[in-house]
Order: sequence, then structure tokens, then C-alpha cells
Amino acid sequence: MKEIAILGSTGSVGQQTLDIVRRFKNQFSVKLLAASKFSETLQKQIKEFRPEYVYIEHLNEDINVDNTKLLTGKEGIEFYSSLDIDLFINAISGINGIYPTYCVLKNNKKLATANKEAIICLGEILKEKYSQILPIDSEHSAIFQLLEKTKKEDISKIIITSSGGPFFKYPKEKLKEVTVEQALNHPKWKMGKKITIDSATLMNKGLEIIEAHYLFNINYDKITAVIHPQSIIHGIVELVDGTLFANLSSTDMRYPISYALFYPERREIGIEKLDLVKLGKLEFYEPDYEKFPLLKISVEAGKKGGAYPIVLTVADEYLVNKFLNGEISFLDISYFIEKVLNSVKFKDPKNIDDVFAVIKNTENLLEELVG
Ligand SMILES: NC(=O)c1ccc[n+]([C@@H]2O[C@H](COP(=O)([O-])OP(=O)(O)OC[C@H]3O[C@@H](n4cnc5c(N)ncnc54)[C@H](OP(=O)(O)O)[C@@H]3O)[C@@H](O)[C@H]2O)c1
Repeated sequence: MKEIAILGSTGSVGQQTLDIVRRFKNQFSVKLLAASKFSETLQKQIKEFRPEYVYIEHLNEDINVDNTKLLTGKEGIEFYSSLDIDLFINAISGINGIYPTYCVLKNNKKLATANKEAIICLGEILKEKYSQILPIDSEHSAIFQLLEKTKKEDISKIIITSSGGPFFKYPKEKLKEVTVEQALNHPKWKMGKKITIDSATLMNKGLEIIEAHYLFNINYDKITAVIHPQSIIHGIVELVDGTLFANLSSTDMRYPISYALFYPERREIGIEKLDLVKLGKLEFYEPDYEKFPLLKISVEAGKKGGAYPIVLTVADEYLVNKFLNGEISFLDISYFIEKVLNSVKFKDPKNIDDVFAVIKNTENLLEELVG
């Protein structure tokens, strides 16, 4: 029995994780579930998986969860991250995932994470702990699996694929009219709202390049993105002799999730396998850096390091929320991110307090600039 904790259990990745756990009930024991609020989904999960602990960020007084112990606040995170749990799965969306990631890694626990925002924001202060991480982001899981079979000195490039998002073939001049509904209509993946908008702006690919840089300790000049509309190849490693190793599977997050759950073993997980003949063709295109400026802007911020990747991450989350609330346009997201990055004068973070200071200062800056 592997004891696991699922942080963000009610979201897209969290629910798909529990879907695998449900199929292998005799191999996993769910010790903790964590969510932002006490929703119907969380209630059902508690009933089905009977965790010993539940963490709820916004905890109301009148919650009744039978024999489950309730946790909340910073102390709740500090408490659960010290528990004797075999694997923590972080499926929290956005910067809320930072402190849980920090505490779990500081306590030297095994972490499987989809939360790229935390990896990026903690990269400058915690990268020496990143070998404890099993990536769940599909591209990073793919690269991780390929790197396990490769000598580091043989690698000349890492290629991360992108579906291109809903506006891959959309005329650039029409992007200013894009609605929230259109931006949320991802052609390949069904995901939470924040990452879906990031996929529409290609910001997600920029964040993934920074994530790959920190996770695999590889220079930016060796990481690149390619548009691959079929989303069948998730990651490619190019070797010095020109050989390419690629990781292929159908577009289903349960592949990388189950790889992390069973690591270092593999299981037949009951998902339809890829039929190459049915698939027919795989296409690849150069990203349109002009139409999607955030891809370059984000990688530049990653290269600058220091406070920049944090400012980028915070600004993106703030502006995506504004777009989702109908307060700014689709193109305002990139406009304001560039503006905020140009006005940064924060010192480089040296510890977790510095990271949270950069977050607070960036939010204040955004309040002034955007409102
Ligand atoms: N979805 C995908 O296919 C996919 C693929 C690759 C990578 N990722 C990455 O995985 C992460 C999660 O994405 P998602 O699409 O699954 O997001 P999502 O559907 O929006 O789910 C977010 C989850 O985080 C929980 N949460 C928010 N704040 C929390 C807090 N302070 N403490 C505990 N739980 C909290 C939410 O709880 P409530 O339900 O109570 O709000 C929810 O369970 C993101 O970093 C994303 O970039 C996702």
C-alpha cells in the first residue's frame, strides 16, 4: 500500500489522479485530500476515499466530515507536509501551490507535481531539491522518461511540443476580439481554466520551458518548443549524433499521472492505446512568435532569473483572472505582462520570505497598472 496525499484533488489533474487510484484501490491509501473550498466534489471524494486528513483553504465553521481531521491555513500545510506519506501529488493550480511545494520539498518528501508555477517561483531558491520531483505535466513527464534512458552529455536539445491552442490558425488581427468562451475552447486538452487560457496565449509553453530548465537543470539554449497540433508526441530529446527520442501516447493526462503514481514501475491502466494507423499523420510547425509574444517574453524572463520568473508567473495569473472576469481583453494579457516586467526593480529572492515579498510587490504593481 502506497500512502498518498492529493493536493488540489477536486481539479482536473486531481480528479484524474483519483480516477487511477480508484482503479487500483488495493495499492493506494489516500491519507490526505486538499482543496480550496468545501465543495460537493470534495464531499463525495471524502466519502469515497476516507482520508485521515482534509485540508481546506477557505474553511467554514459548519463543516462536518465524520472521522476526518480538518486542516487549514499555513500551519495546516506545515503539518501535512511533515506527515509520513509516501507520495505527495500537487495538482493545485497557480501560485497557491508554492507553499505546499516548498514545505513538502523542505521536509524531503517525495513529490509528484503538475504545479509548474511553484517550480518556476521556487527555482532560484530550491533547485537543489528538484531531484525529489516526479513531473506530471505531460511534456515534462515525457522528457523525464526519455532522460532516464539517456546520458546527459549526449543531449543536444530538448523539444517540448504544443498543440498550438485554439488560435493556432486564427488571424492575428482578430485576436483582439477573442471572447473568454473561445479562449477556453481548447482543441485537445480538457483542463482547468487558468492553464487553458495560458495555452491560448502560448504562455503555457513559455512557463513549461522555464519549468524544464529548473527541473532538468538544462540551459535555455538547449530547450525549444514546436507546434504539434495532434498532441501525440509530448516531448523529444535530440542527441549529439542527431538521433531523436520521442515519447508518444494519446492525449490523456492519466498517462503521466499513472507514471508518477507507480514510479518506478508501470501498470496497464485501462486507457485506449494509441493506434498509429488510425492516427495517420503527425505535423510540426514553428511557433508564431509575433502572434503569440508571450512565448518569447516568458522565456526571456526565465533567462534573466532572479525575481523575473516570479513576477512573470504572478502577473500572468492576475491578468488571466481579469480576462476570465471580463475586465480586460485577450491581448491585454500580453500587453500588461510586458509592462510589468519592464518596471521590475525587485532584488533577487534568497529565501521563501523573499519569494512571497516579490509576489506581494508584483500584485501591488499590478493593482496600480491595471486596477
Ligand atoms: N489540467 C491539466 O490537464 C494539466 C496538464 C498539465 C499541467 N497542469 C497543471 O496542473 C495544475 C493544476 O491544473 P488543473 O487544470 O487541474 O487546475 P484546476 O482544475 O483549476 O484545479 C485546481 C485545484 O486546486 C485547488 N486549490 C486551489 N487553491 C488551493 C489551495 N490553496 N489549497 C489546496 N487546493 C487548492 C482547487 O480546489 P477547489 O476545487 O476547491 O477550487 C482545485 O482542486 C496547474 O499548475 C496546471 O498548470 C494541468
